[in-house]
Amino acid sequence: MRRPRFIAEHARNARGLVGRIIAFIMARETRSQNLRAMDALGIDRSDQILDLGCGHGHSLTELAARAATGHVVGVDPSELMVEIAIQRNRALIEAARVEVVRATVESLPFPDDAFDKIVCVHVLYFWKDLDVSLREIARVLKPGGRLGLLFRTKADLAAVASFPPEIYRFPALADVTAALERAALDVHAGADYANEPVLLLAEKRPPRTASEVSHTTDQADAILASRAIT
Ligand SMILES: C[S@@+](CC[C@H](N)C(=O)[O-])C[C@H]1O[C@@H](n2cnc3c(N)ncnc32)[C@H](O)[C@@H]1O
Repeated sequence: MRRPRFIAEHARNARGLVGRIIAFIMARETRSQNLRAMDALGIDRSDQILDLGCGHGHSLTELAARAATGHVVGVDPSELMVEIAIQRNRALIEAARVEVVRATVESLPFPDDAFDKIVCVHVLYFWKDLDVSLREIARVLKPGGRLGLLFRTKADLAAVASFPPEIYRFPALADVTAALERAALDVHAGADYANEPVLLLAEKRPPRTASEVSHTTDQADAILASRAIT
């Protein structure tokens, strides 16, 4: 049965009392998938971590416990979700272990190469543009840093039938893996495509060294020269 449109709207942008109730239910519904993403990413004690679309902020608490000497930042565009996440993590925020920032994936208010790990669970359905979002994620990841991206695909017919399509956009898996590659995020072997929701792990490709760039340029010059001769 299709979920009512207003519930889907609050999942995308929670507001008011109904949004508060939905945030409470959501935290319980998504807990096991958040733990799955964190386990697969392998959090190190000193990691700088971003939870993108952190919602209610339950995962921020868990991430801070795993990155005991690191720093955890939650980002969410919903004013209400940011308020709930701050309330929940007040002690960790006062200890400067956790921060919650109101922003969207399209414009993250962080410098380049800021994070070792990014967790993003059940958020991609609401992105305006896959390429823009993944390029912005790649920008704030350190080279070699890892993204754990968990979402349902359009192959999950039960999910497609349950959520209003004008709010939830379920992508094809191939479209997401291709966009990751275009954003210089290499899909990692630990990914789990077999089970819905799928979990993609991707690693930011290190920048090419000057000698690799000149080697590629030399190869391209050689190909062009051989074409000119034949
Ligand atoms: C279904 S909830 C998932 C929350 C949390 N990650 C979890 O697993 O429970 C989706 C969250 O994504 C946030 N969101 C919606 N559009 C977003 C965007 N463009 N950038 C970042 N987050 C967004 C919503 O405010 C909401 O908190």
